[in-house]
Amino acid sequence: MIQFRNLALRSNLFLSPLAGYTNLPFRLVVREIGGLDLATTDLVNARSLLEKNPKALKLIESNAQDQPLAVQLFGSVPEEMRAASQYLESIGVASIDINMGCPVRKVCRVGGGSAMMTELDRTAALVRGMVAAVRIPVTAKMRLGWDDDNLTAPDLARALEDAGVAAVFVHGRTREQGFTGTVNLNGIRRVVEAVSRIPVIGNGDVTTPEAARHMLIETGCAGVSIGRGAFYDPWIFRRTNEYLATGTMPAEPTLTDRLRIMSRHLDRMTEVFGEAHGCILFRKIAPWYARRFGPSAGFNQRVVRLTSRAEYDDIVTDYLQWRAQFCDAAGRLLPRFEPPPMVASFLRDREPPSGLRESIPVPKGPVDVW
Ligand SMILES: Cc1cc2nc3c(=O)[nH]c(=O)nc-3n(C[C@H](O)[C@H](O)[C@H](O)COP(=O)(O)O)c2cc1C
Repeated sequence: MIQFRNLALRSNLFLSPLAGYTNLPFRLVVREIGGLDLATTDLVNARSLLEKNPKALKLIESNAQDQPLAVQLFGSVPEEMRAASQYLESIGVASIDINMGCPVRKVCRVGGGSAMMTELDRTAALVRGMVAAVRIPVTAKMRLGWDDDNLTAPDLARALEDAGVAAVFVHGRTREQGFTGTVNLNGIRRVVEAVSRIPVIGNGDVTTPEAARHMLIETGCAGVSIGRGAFYDPWIFRRTNEYLATGTMPAEPTLTDRLRIMSRHLDRMTEVFGEAHGCILFRKIAPWYARRFGPSAGFNQRVVRLTSRAEYDDIVTDYLQWRAQFCDAAGRLLPRFEPPPMVASFLRDREPPSGLRESIPVPKGPVDVW
C-alpha cells in the first residue's frame, strides 16, 4: 500500500511518537485493534542507546507482535547516530526515524530537534551517513520550521530526499507555535510539493477519520500520522482505514469494547513494567479511555490512585453499578446526557464542518514542553 524504500507497509496510517505514551503496551493495544502497521517508539537518545543505558533499552523494548517497528533517534553526533542505527538494524528494527522537530530545550541544546532544521547541510551530511550505514529505511520527522518567518521544512525535505531518506513526517506547526493554533495544511502541502520521490506523511490534530481524509485530500500527503488522537481513541486507525476504503463511517466501539481494551492495556502495562509501576503509569492512561464512557468522574477519582490489578477490577465493577443509573435497560446512556438540542447546534456551529476535529487537550506532564 505504501513503500518506505524496501519496506512495504499495509497501512498508510502511522502512530506518532509520544514520549511517555507510545510504549510497548500501548503499541500492542493499538495493533490488536487493527488498522496500523508501522508504529514508532518514543524518542531515544542515540548515545544512551550505545551506552546500553537501561532506560534507553526499555524505550526500545519490543516483541514479535510489535512489528514492524520504527525507533525514533535523536542526537547530532554523526558517528553516534550511525552506530545506533546499525545496532537497531542488528536487533531487527524495521525503520529508523530521526527526530528533527522536537522543541524541548534539552534536545535543541545538543543540536538535535528543531535546531537541526536551521542547519541544512550539516543535517543532510548526518543523514547521508546513517542511510549509507544500514539497509533499513531512515525517515525524518520535522515541524514546518522554527517560526512563520523560517518555514524551512520544504527545503529540508528536499535536502533529505537527496540524502536518501525514505519518507518524511511533517507536523504542520512551527516550533514557535508549540501546540497552539491549528495545523497548517498548506504548509504540509508545500512539503509534499517540494519532494519528488519519497512519501510525505502529514501529522497534527487528526482525531477523527474525517480529519485524516481531509488532511490527505488537502495536502496530497501519502499517509497520516496520529499521536494524541490515538490516545483519545485507539480505534482511530481501524475506523479510519475502513472509512478511507469504503467511504462509510464504521460504528463507534461499544462500552464493552472500550472496557475490554482498557483492561488489556493494563495487563500489558503490568507485563512490561511490573504490577506496581504498571499501575502507576496506568493512572494517566485510564482517564483517556474514560472520556468516552459518559459520566465518569467517580471512576477517574479512583483510577488516578490505582495501586493494583485487583483494585482496578473493583473500580470497574463499582463504576458499572454506579453508571447503571444513567442507562436504559439495554445499557445505553439515557438521552439527558446528550447535550440539549440548542447547545448541540451551538457546538456544531462552532466546529469545523463535518466533525473534522474533536477538541483534544494537550495532556499534562512532560507535554507542555513538546
Ligand atoms: C506527550 C507528547 C509526547 C511527544 N513526544 C514526541 C517524541 O518523542 N518525538 C516526536 O518527534 N514528537 C513527539 N511529540 C509530537 C507528536 O509526535 C506529534 O507530532 C504531535 O503531537 C502532533 O500530532 P497529534 O496532533 O496527532 O498529536 C509528542 C507530543 C506529545 C503530545
